[in-house]
Amino acid sequence: MSQNLQSKTQDVIFEIKNRLDIVDTVSEHVVLKKSGRNYWGLCPFHKEKTPSFSVNHDKNIFKCFGCGVGGDSISFLMKLNNSTFHETIADLAQKFGLELPTFGQSSEKAELREKIYDINDKSVEYYTKLLLEAPEAFAAREYLAKRDIDADVIKKFNLGFSLKQADGLINYLVGNFKSDFDLLDKAGLISKRTTGNGYCDRFRNRIMIPIRDEKGNFIAFGARALEDSQNPKYLNSPDTLTFNKSRSLFALNLAKESIRNLDKVIIMEGYFDVISAHTHGLTNVVATLGTALTEQHLKILARYTDSRRIYLAFDVDEAGVNATSRGAELIKSVFDGLGDIKQFDENFASLSDTNNRSSCEIRVVTIPTGKDPDEFIRTDGIDTYKNLINKAPLLIDYQINRIINSKDNITSPQDKAHLTKELIPVLAEIKNSIILDEYVRLVAGKLEINEESLSKEVKKSLQNSSKIKSDLKPIVNKKLEKHILAQKNLLSLYFINSDKLSILCINDYLKEVNFTDSDYLLIKNEIDKIIQEVNETISAEELNKELLMRLADNEAAKQIIVDINFSLEDKKSLTEKLLLQFIQENILFLNQHLSLREQEQLKTDYRAAKNDELSSLQLQYKVRELIQLNNSRLEIINEQEKG
Ligand code: GTP
Ligand code: MN
Repeated sequence: MSQNLQSKTQDVIFEIKNRLDIVDTVSEHVVLKKSGRNYWGLCPFHKEKTPSFSVNHDKNIFKCFGCGVGGDSISFLMKLNNSTFHETIADLAQKFGLELPTFGQSSEKAELREKIYDINDKSVEYYTKLLLEAPEAFAAREYLAKRDIDADVIKKFNLGFSLKQADGLINYLVGNFKSDFDLLDKAGLISKRTTGNGYCDRFRNRIMIPIRDEKGNFIAFGARALEDSQNPKYLNSPDTLTFNKSRSLFALNLAKESIRNLDKVIIMEGYFDVISAHTHGLTNVVATLGTALTEQHLKILARYTDSRRIYLAFDVDEAGVNATSRGAELIKSVFDGLGDIKQFDENFASLSDTNNRSSCEIRVVTIPTGKDPDEFIRTDGIDTYKNLINKAPLLIDYQINRIINSKDNITSPQDKAHLTKELIPVLAEIKNSIILDEYVRLVAGKLEINEESLSKEVKKSLQNSSKIKSDLKPIVNKKLEKHILAQKNLLSLYFINSDKLSILCINDYLKEVNFTDSDYLLIKNEIDKIIQEVNETISAEELNKELLMRLADNEAAKQIIVDINFSLEDKKSLTEKLLLQFIQENILFLNQHLSLREQEQLKTDYRAAKNDELSSLQLQYKVRELIQLNNSRLEIINEQEKG
């Protein structure tokens, strides 16, 4: 992006930010009541009965004390609409009648993206018209009718039909719109001919199932064969600029509202399963596109279900059962860090710390007759299926039952040993010891084995498994670590409007502080810049406003600033002496943390350098130096405290 374009964009963003009023923005979606200096309402981002969602008009920021989310008007709109910063700014620019230079992705890419949406639009129209009207689509209409898919469903899902002929779509698009092959190729609509030169339609003699993104743009197609001889049964678009299989979920655009309202999502395997469910009014349902569930899928879904309540409703064949266990493991690891996975139902809640929200809730919907959801819904009715969902067991129960029920008659010691071996790792995952004991008793009873031995084995495995760490990074962070909190505390000084501490004075105190975490360092640097550029007597309010403006596109930084702003009250009331103590304690903690980290690093280096005499000697000196430094730091602070 050119410097000029960037600064023009910046201007528009500043203008937008100036015009946005947090109370106006939020009021369009949340009923707000003024109370004291803040406005309060029910948080739109998590379920609650008493308002913990707070809006500060003066500072133009919001924060929910229930779920912790906070930010400015842009953050609010991004979270509400699940949109990116750029999308939100573009919407707002349009709303305010401001012209925005193209930004974000290079305009060339953005243009191609639009062109692909457009060519897909035209193709959808073409395929649907064929399905509804063409004599060649007679068999296709019959086929869909047999699957209880009528014209309304066809229209709702924009289903279509592709001709057997090799160039139906090409002729239509080139003939009517002079589309060029390069675009059709980039949209994944055509393939190179295997014999001869040139291209042919990618999809032929298939039911066309358009795939849309969250916003409803047509990004790709799934296509089901109409004849048994056709291979593969389902053919998807290749990945393109607009389509990435591991990020796309079928029908998410139709399901997202309902996923948010019900705070749960049902994931199925097939297009037709989802079509059946939605047609019968079960709308919080999506499907992966013939691929396994991925981390990206889960991150997208987590934006809609706050409790991360996920129902796996895969087929009950071997492939489906495997997909279920792999999916469940992935869900657990991706949401690790938010707490423990939900392992027991509400009636057990008193056994747990109810404040401790679970990281996620995984349930498995199994159809006892072995049919897939589509068939089951059509033969047994949606209510029977909804019943299955309402009674869907938690993952832990599903796993235990599946193992126990995998053999009809468990009598031989071999069988028992075999099943026990499978059960132990599952049992070892139960966090609550009371519940664990219950399950051990239950399982031992079922298998007719000794309860105590089982319990011992489970505990042994527990110790082993705690050593093995998942290599998947959790998407959420654990509670604030203390050294992070110290950085936050120190930064918060800038936000207190106080005659006890001028900004220059704070700068002086923080001169030697090492902000280790990148977001905190970024904020500190931005503050330094503002103080230099604007002036040194800037008020806390102005600084706050300027910071939020400059960091408008950095959600993590904004969240920190908002959190700081909402935690100032207790600091404002500190006397000068206590305030100084507060500063010293936090600096001390941060420095100690740093020294410890350096020492750890040195120890590692030391171990690595053991064989190399010279460098190990150098390291010894360094360690000694470091310890001395650390001690003298302590002395200084102790001196200051006395004085
Ligand atoms: P129907 O036979 O039409 O009822 O299909 P189904 O939905 O029961 O299909 P199945 O259970 O065989 O597969 C479920 C999903 O897996 C489909 O919706 C596709 O997304 C995907 N799938 C199945 N077969 C293929 C294939 O041959 N290739 C690809 N890429 N995906 C497939
Ligand atoms: Mn199926």
